[in-house]
Amino acid sequence: MTSQLPPRETDHYTQLADAAVVTTRALLAARENIADTIDARAMMCLHGPAGVGKTLAVNVCLRELERTRGEEVCRIAFRARPTARAVRHELFVALGLPGEPPRHPPEFDRLLLDSLAAQPRTLVVDEAQWLNRETFEYFRYIWDHPYSQIAIIFAGGEGAHTVLRKEPMLSSRIYIWQHVTKLTLAQVQQVIPL
Ligand SMILES: Nc1ncnc2c1ncn2[C@@H]1O[C@H](COP(=O)(O)OP(=O)(O)OP(=O)(O)O)[C@@H](O)[C@H]1O
Ligand SMILES: [Mg+2]
Repeated sequence: MTSQLPPRETDHYTQLADAAVVTTRALLAARENIADTIDARAMMCLHGPAGVGKTLAVNVCLRELERTRGEEVCRIAFRARPTARAVRHELFVALGLPGEPPRHPPEFDRLLLDSLAAQPRTLVVDEAQWLNRETFEYFRYIWDHPYSQIAIIFAGGEGAHTVLRKEPMLSSRIYIWQHVTKLTLAQVQQVIPL
């Protein structure tokens, strides 16, 4: 199966002459946290302000796990506030399901759950700040299902953290929280020469 992660060449700026992905502390932590989350088939939330490297960290780490462990990764990235119906459709596409999406929610849920039970996978939900309580709840529902073999990594702005934290039903199920922050001046001085 071809990867759903955007190819390395599309990571902004990293292809400029002399540019390189730097193993920052956040990237190292993400690598460990993502591996632990996948081992536990759990849910993780990587959150922080815009542009601090959340998407890059997730993509770099998962490309590695695809390559070294053959982990199957699916990816959804939201661009606007989705409805539960839109989430089902995104999952249908990300899981590579054939044919037309079912018309009725119960039938649709059954199809998605069967697919999630069929094999282990990791799902990345990027731009998760667009999710509200209801749509996060849908991910919880599919993850909670006893036969689901899915690990879910939510990456997003602080809004994602705020919504998840407010709902004990959701927050209690997040195995690892990782807060990514801006590099400090001292870290920049260390990292830039690299
Ligand atoms: N570890 C790193 N090494 C080198 N460059 C990096 C690293 N992390 C981030 N960058 C640079 O910073 C840019 C922004 O990172 P990224 O898109 O991952 O941020 P983000 O936290 O996902 O932002 P947003 O919240 O806007 O989605 C990257 O395109 C890349 O150029
Ligand atoms: Mg991003």
